Amino acid sequence: MSDERTAPEGDLAEPFLLAVLASGGLDAEYVRAEGNTLYRRGEDGEEIPVLDYVGGYGSLMLGHSNPEIIAYAKTLLDQRTPVHAQFSRHPYAGDVAAALNRIIQRERGDDEQYYAIFANSGAEAVEAAMKHAELDRGLRVTELTEEIAGHIDDVREQVAAGAATVPAHVADSIDDLVAEVRTRNEAQSARPPLFLTPEGAFHGKLAGSVQLTHNEGYRLPFKALAAQARFVPRDQPGALRKIIDEERGHLLDLVVEGGRVRVVERDAPLFTAFVLEPVQGEGGIHELSREFTQEVQQVCAEHGIPVVVDEIQSGMGRTGTFLAATHLGLRGDYYTLAKSLGGGIAKAAVTLVRKPLYRGQFELAHSSTFAKDSFSCLIALKVLEIMEADDGEVYRRAAERGERLLAMLRAVRADFPGVVSDVRGRGLMLGLEFHDQSAADAQPLRQVAGSGFFGYFVAGHILRTHRIRVFPTSSAVNTLRFEPSVYLTDGEIDRLEAALRDVCAIIRDTDGQALAPVA
Ligand code: F0G
Repeated sequence: MSDERTAPEGDLAEPFLLAVLASGGLDAEYVRAEGNTLYRRGEDGEEIPVLDYVGGYGSLMLGHSNPEIIAYAKTLLDQRTPVHAQFSRHPYAGDVAAALNRIIQRERGDDEQYYAIFANSGAEAVEAAMKHAELDRGLRVTELTEEIAGHIDDVREQVAAGAATVPAHVADSIDDLVAEVRTRNEAQSARPPLFLTPEGAFHGKLAGSVQLTHNEGYRLPFKALAAQARFVPRDQPGALRKIIDEERGHLLDLVVEGGRVRVVERDAPLFTAFVLEPVQGEGGIHELSREFTQEVQQVCAEHGIPVVVDEIQSGMGRTGTFLAATHLGLRGDYYTLAKSLGGGIAKAAVTLVRKPLYRGQFELAHSSTFAKDSFSCLIALKVLEIMEADDGEVYRRAAERGERLLAMLRAVRADFPGVVSDVRGRGLMLGLEFHDQSAADAQPLRQVAGSGFFGYFVAGHILRTHRIRVFPTSSAVNTLRFEPSVYLTDGEIDRLEAALRDVCAIIRDTDGQALAPVA
């Protein structure tokens, strides 16, 4: 690629990315979209259909240009529905929150209530959760500090009244002791907060959320900008407790016992939240195990650490239930939703906060011009209505179509065991992982694998040869992900099967020249 400071000629909108896409043959321009199909323009001006398995990174559960959603959007615009009326009554936002509560309560089988904070994108919803949880943590630290200050005053009075003494091995005087306790507590309270998240996590690329994203290439250049996370291994029972023990801190408190002043340790809230995706998406399509999520749930409850369940990619019915967490019996103190909530046309995102944890003052501390606008809320409401229609037909379809697609991927793997290392996922959130080819005998294949863009070159070939759009997960480029809409047909599955078998045969039988960069 060209010098990093000299843009390729022409385009001024992220031209470097365009050059990368071009080298993989992925720089197609799409002019129309419907269902699972994107259309590009051919040389003679004709439309060429491309079967889309990327699905807007999981934003198109209901397909491109869903006719019901489009018709409703047109009505809203024709009626001149005010899109922007910030700082006024927003009944439609309340309706979205109520609908989400109803759906989640039904799925969890309880009556827990959640307040909703609206946002425009996934990362923004994650950051609203991060900020709310940090506001709550800060207030809990203040509450604890005030409680301790009250105890200190109380102990001082008792010492002054001769009702208690400071043992010599503790301190020379109550003044010395209080000064020491205050210094230690101030140092502890000044420690920056920490987030917890599993290895392989992806929660966005804004300044805060990118620190919860495991991929170092995305995260490290911006490390100085925001609070840090400790990444917890997904397959080591006990690892979470160990990390908490390494990092946890205490505030010192004073009590009087049997006429003697004693110093006791109180757990200082240091961890803002544990943030996790029930099925990790961008990190390679990994469903978290029940063992891991139950451990997270239990350990976080013991330490008063809120659990943020990021359902931005896995939620909205994609795995066959509204929340992927339902399969794991995982209960969030917070949930984040985005992507398909916008029905493929709006930028809608929401953060749900469990009522007992909610801090009302957050609403005056946090806002966004575009969040909670009527258009995206009303579209979100229509999306939820479609999902809930016919007793949850959309969820059933996601499960059934997903099973069918998964069976096909497994059949391909069975026939190409030396090429495909794994097939995994749930519902319409599936991944197919290729064996690493960076030590392959054939030089072209080795080169493609060594480029760090293996999946993108595979995607380029599939697009050129089969007119199908697939993408790898960008933090695990040997894994292709498939996130089509619930309207996926058997014929569309057959087409993908033919394309995957072709690619697998190329990798197994030839030197991989067909996957090489486009000149
Ligand atoms: N959380 C999850 C679980 C996501 O998958 C994503 C985005 C985000 C947060 C951030 O959302 O892009 O709207 O700000 N995932 C895309 C992907 C980018 O490639 O899987 P955003």
